[in-house]
Amino acid sequence: MAETTIHILDRDFRLSIPEEVIQQKIKALVTRINDDYAGLNPVMVSILNGAFMFTADLVRYLEFQPEIIFARFSSYDGMDTTGEVRELMGVTADLRGRDVIIVEDIVDTGLTMYNVLPKFKHLGAKSVKIACMLQKPEKLRVDLKVDYCAHEIPNDFIVGYGLDYNGFGRNYRDIYTAVETQ
Ligand code: IMP
Ligand code: MG
Repeated sequence: MAETTIHILDRDFRLSIPEEVIQQKIKALVTRINDDYAGLNPVMVSILNGAFMFTADLVRYLEFQPEIIFARFSSYDGMDTTGEVRELMGVTADLRGRDVIIVEDIVDTGLTMYNVLPKFKHLGAKSVKIACMLQKPEKLRVDLKVDYCAHEIPNDFIVGYGLDYNGFGRNYRDIYTAVETQ
């Protein structure tokens, strides 16, 4: 049984999405991806650091053979988005003429994906789609099409399942929501 509350650095978090729910949502999502990419060999670009756990679970259910690579962008400092997206580790594969699936942990304001999408298109990708574990639809600030989303959540800050609070909390298999401080 997962702990119902955890403490990370200076904040408390309460259990909000248990492992079983996460896995069930991923399985439902993967059937759509398997249908759309049957017989194809897309490049899946997993966005570090947050998407490492989602990527590891997602790819194990795929029924086609993707090339899997990693890239890293940064926009967050603590619990706030900085609005500026920096490329910390670029794409190493040749994307020309390839179908690309960006694998992201969470789409929040959408700024990261909004800025990253054109980069992949400029590298010559034939198609680029976004697959995310979570999305906070109320916080979306840009015109962004999220092609595959396993689960929508409210406007709260969360940790666990790859997501962090200042680098900590990524290892939890369940997802926890920050408890508001008075
Ligand atoms: P966006 O650019 O605002 O859409 O934010 C995207 C990135 O911010 C995600 O890839 C996450 O790494 C991070 N992020 C957004 N919301 C949360 C959260 O609730 N907890 C931890 N990280 C988050
Ligand atoms: Mg991320």
